[in-house]
Amino acid sequence: MPRAAILGTGHSVPERVVTNDELAQLMQTSDEWIRSRTGIQERRWVEPGTSGIDLARQASVRALDAAGVDADELDAIIYATISPEHYLPGNGVYLQHALTTRPVPALDIRAQCAGFIYALSVADAYIRAGLYRTVLVVGQEIQSAWLDATTEGRDTAVIFADGAGAVVLRATEESRGILAIDVHTDGAHADKLMIEAPGARYRPKESAAHLAARRFFPVMAGREVFRHAVARMPESVRETLAKSGLSVADLTLLIPHQANLRISQAVQKELGLRDDQVYNNIMTYGNTTSATIPIALDECVRAGRVCSGDLVVFTAFGSGFMWGSAVVRW
Ligand code: UT7
Repeated sequence: MPRAAILGTGHSVPERVVTNDELAQLMQTSDEWIRSRTGIQERRWVEPGTSGIDLARQASVRALDAAGVDADELDAIIYATISPEHYLPGNGVYLQHALTTRPVPALDIRAQCAGFIYALSVADAYIRAGLYRTVLVVGQEIQSAWLDATTEGRDTAVIFADGAGAVVLRATEESRGILAIDVHTDGAHADKLMIEAPGARYRPKESAAHLAARRFFPVMAGREVFRHAVARMPESVRETLAKSGLSVADLTLLIPHQANLRISQAVQKELGLRDDQVYNNIMTYGNTTSATIPIALDECVRAGRVCSGDLVVFTAFGSGFMWGSAVVRW
């Protein structure tokens, strides 16, 4: 059975830097609170009107260039986002159109902070099954579009941010590539991090009453999400490594979803990893949801932090709850 190897990575973030001090002018918060509770020093938010597809296209072109693969060689596109441009169709169709004239399948994945791992699991299954040879996986968000940048929404507004990351996967008969992926859901916790409306369960789908009741903004039981994240992520890392006949002792580099620096530090401690074995960049980008892992991976690859033979592990946890991990031999 072929494996899916990561041939190239790329990312793109908006130019506009939003500092903690800037947010403190919009809501009751402070640089000290945000840094000490989340580790975030600044994040990127797009200028209003900027398309997320453009960020995804730039990240994809960089990943394709790094892979030495032409966009017309792609057999499928898997696009993880929870902040699509439109209610329908999904972002994948716009990216397909921006990259190639070939009518390749383009599938949107909605799995929140675990979106990239879920997207990777679909691409990996396609490649292992022999259905497709070359697959582009993208994680992209424009979270600034739906944040409530006032004191009422400060718990989420200071965390979430915009960006895109991409990887090009190709079937290989070599021993490198994705060794195992593990994905989970526990819908009992669906209300712990959600945007309730607009939605098809409501008539009308969008209403002034919903707007007044703040149902278009995210609500998050932050402490509950935190508590589950620090338990599920290490558990999933261990399970996924075990599926590949490996253990934490074999791991070279962990790239955790960037939700909160304290979550990453707790996961690191629980797994007994050294500082140089865990990569974090939430300090400069905030939480870009499905884009955090491919952005971080691209930074590591370009900085030479990932070498041939290294064992790289991704892990993520978020709304749903949905979580998972992937083990990759570089
Ligand atoms: O991406 C995956 C999904 N998300 C996560 O993984 C997030 C997980 N949770 C967290 O990261 C943390 O729970 C937060 C960073 C969201 C909050 O940190 P916390 O230490 O759990 O604070 P808290 O929610 O218990 O709130 C403590 C206080 C509250 O005030 P009172 O009730 O003690 O008076 C909040 O109202 O901090 C207040 N607060 C803020 N203060 C200043 C909440 N947000 C802010 C803010 N600035 N931005």
